[in-house]
Amino acid sequence: MKQAGTPDNPLHIAIVGSGPSGFYATEALIKSGINVKINMLERLPAPYGLVRHGVAPDHAKLKQAIQLYDKIAEAREFTYLGNVNVGRDITVDELRKTHHAIIFACGAETDRKLGVPGENLIGSHTATEFVGWYNGHPDYRDRTFDLSHEVAVIIGQGNVAADVSRILAKSIDELKHTDISAHALDVLAASKIRDIYVIGRRGPAQAKFTPKELREFGELAICDPVISPEDLALNQSSQRELEDKTNITSAKIYQLFKDFSQLQPSSKKRRCHFRFLLSPVELTGKDRLQGLVLEKNILQGEAFNQSARGTGEKITMDAGILFRSIGYHGVPIAGVPFDGRKGTIPNSKGRVTDQGAVIPQLYTAGWIKRGPSGIIGTNRADSVETVENLLQDLSSFDTSVVKPGVDGVLPILKERKVHFVTFPEWKKIDRKEVERGKPAGKPREKFTRVQEMLAVLD
Ligand SMILES: Cc1cc2nc3c(=O)[nH]c(=O)nc-3n(C[C@H](O)[C@H](O)[C@H](O)COP(=O)(O)OP(=O)(O)OC[C@H]3O[C@@H](n4cnc5c(N)ncnc54)[C@H](O)[C@@H]3O)c2cc1C
Ligand SMILES: NC(=O)c1ccc[n+]([C@@H]2O[C@H](COP(=O)([O-])OP(=O)(O)OC[C@H]3O[C@@H](n4cnc5c(N)ncnc54)[C@H](OP(=O)(O)O)[C@@H]3O)[C@@H](O)[C@H]2O)c1
Repeated sequence: MKQAGTPDNPLHIAIVGSGPSGFYATEALIKSGINVKINMLERLPAPYGLVRHGVAPDHAKLKQAIQLYDKIAEAREFTYLGNVNVGRDITVDELRKTHHAIIFACGAETDRKLGVPGENLIGSHTATEFVGWYNGHPDYRDRTFDLSHEVAVIIGQGNVAADVSRILAKSIDELKHTDISAHALDVLAASKIRDIYVIGRRGPAQAKFTPKELREFGELAICDPVISPEDLALNQSSQRELEDKTNITSAKIYQLFKDFSQLQPSSKKRRCHFRFLLSPVELTGKDRLQGLVLEKNILQGEAFNQSARGTGEKITMDAGILFRSIGYHGVPIAGVPFDGRKGTIPNSKGRVTDQGAVIPQLYTAGWIKRGPSGIIGTNRADSVETVENLLQDLSSFDTSVVKPGVDGVLPILKERKVHFVTFPEWKKIDRKEVERGKPAGKPREKFTRVQEMLAVLD
């Protein structure tokens, strides 16, 4: 048979995951001009990955990427099968038999571990859980967050930590017209939190916020940012880092910290404190979290390569609730190599490898390929690289048997009674969510349980 990618032998590609990297891979395949059929499989009924379940509800503009993904989904080459968990509802081997190649674009769905005693105490949560909960992710619908305490601590100084602390810091009026889930809004409305501590293990020059996100802390209705000027002292290497012309973001962040440190205290009822050079060494409490022990750090190493080293000096802090926001981590899929330390699928520029050897048919893109960093747009170039390499391998694809693509998958799912959701069905759920949001002046009220979504289709 002729090489795949021709009208009488279309190239059948399965894409696992419907986040940005899955949609950008779809776009790149369609744009390639070859005859291709794309079968996107997503474990939730709803598509868009972290654009729906990660991006903060008060950052509606950033969700506009969804309009592009909807446009991509209109292509006749594209099929969407939501509510299909690859590895559980269908095996990787079955996808290999039915498709020429598979692109794993399944993101980084769990979190890194802090590795200190007390990490799992009641009241100590991951940012992943909290973000999923306020964004209506079905996995986190039934989590509970006790906001009856006055002190909340966030470990980590990246943009996810900024999201978590901002949501805790905002008034209900600032949130009630967003797509935040109703169950979360109710709990946040009763919050007693007064002081939020956002704690970095390194210094103010190494915080990973972006300026736009940090600036918002100076514009909140009921919360002031607090930084003590002496916390902004820099060692020589950090000064060098901030003077470097390629490091404008960190210089802007440092300037914002400086501006915050000069603010006069106001009568706002909440404060968000940014603290540096502190690492938690123990979370304390008998039956639940009551506080934490932090070790003071100094920085060591050359500029741009400085790491935190404990000094042995410890301080204690009371805390009623704590969020570990120290980065996401991938989850393995049965039948696919996995690097448990990095939390990624090992690969060479998108070609999946096992101990260095390329595994035919398997490709990867996005956070599961390169690790949990980068904004939505970063995934576009990343997916393009994977698709370019996949297309380079075209001549090596097995053409001795016909690959049925989605037509080979549907009978398997039907036999297993998997209630898969097509894209037009998802759009029906989507319209219902928008309708449900209208009475409260919200862009949508998400369904937060899979059964509720499927019930819309009955
Ligand atoms: C809390 C948070 C907020 C963010 N906010 C912003 C922001 O405001 N702006 C910005 O530019 N970037 C933001 N980002 C970064 C951005 O969301 C990521 O760069 C991007 O979503 C990564 O895309 P991805 O496709 O690799 O993974 P994801 O978006 O995670 O998509 C992976 C998809 O795969 C599915 N999946 C997983 N396992 C399986 C399986 N076994 N079978 C089938 N499907 C599966 C998942 O359900 C998910 O839908 C944020 C990230 C986080 C964590
Ligand atoms: N609005 C937006 O655009 C937006 C919103 C959310 C997320 N995102 C993006 O999504 C990506 C992921 O964000 P993220 O915040 O999860 O990750 P991140 O930017 O990598 O930040 C992780 C933070 O955790 C700290 N950390 C890691 N391990 C630690 C440990 N063992 N102890 C103490 N602190 C530790 C890191 O400190 P070190 O620096 O010392 O390692 C860093 O401050 C980023 O690229 C981010 O920009 C974007």
